[in-house]
Amino acid sequence: MPATDLQLVVPTNADGASILGIARNIELFEPGDIDTIQELWAEFTAKGDAASWYHFVAARRDGQVLGFACYGQRPLTQGTYDLYWIAVDKNHHRQGIGEVLLDEAEKQVKARGGRLLIAETAGKLAFEPTRRFYLRSGYQLEARIRDFYSPGDDLVVFTKRL
Ligand SMILES: CC(C)(COP(=O)(O)OP(=O)(O)OC[C@H]1O[C@@H](n2cnc3c(N)ncnc32)[C@H](O)[C@@H]1OP(=O)(O)O)[C@@H](O)C(=O)NCCC(=O)NCCS
Repeated sequence: MPATDLQLVVPTNADGASILGIARNIELFEPGDIDTIQELWAEFTAKGDAASWYHFVAARRDGQVLGFACYGQRPLTQGTYDLYWIAVDKNHHRQGIGEVLLDEAEKQVKARGGRLLIAETAGKLAFEPTRRFYLRSGYQLEARIRDFYSPGDDLVVFTKRL
């Protein structure tokens, strides 16, 4: 069930610590992932939502950030967007927050002229819940590149036509 008591906001500088804290607490994320999220966040806050290539959306409840998504247009495409990151506070999983965030990211992509959203994830067992989340959210398993991240760790590409 999607959570109905959330506030969806364009996050500001003040939300940075919460967003990065949520990311750091996700056991699936590796130090390199956190560095990348930090870089995208830095560009987003430095340039602002209108000028930034990357866009963030955050979900708040009672003033507390419980999750975020980050997306941006894929360079050299017309209307293809990447969902770079989506993460929900690990103490609030399975409460419908991810669903609400993903839905909002899709709406924003569409409003910006996007027609195709790509979510890349890993093929290893630990990402099975993430893959279930995308499948359940109407994404199609479009491609798999074997041994992409490392030997035995595939890249799995999900897509959704908006
Ligand atoms: C993936 C993630 C964002 C989902 O957020 P969430 O708020 O827990 O997901 P929701 O509660 O909205 O789940 C929606 C549906 O997805 C599926 N789903 C979500 N988590 C699942 C899990 N752990 N196992 C099986 N199915 C799952 C279910 O069908 C669920 O509906 P249901 O609870 O009514 O059965 C969250 O688990 C997360 O932060 N994971 C770690 C980070 C990550 O993998 N991000 C994606 C790559 S960047």
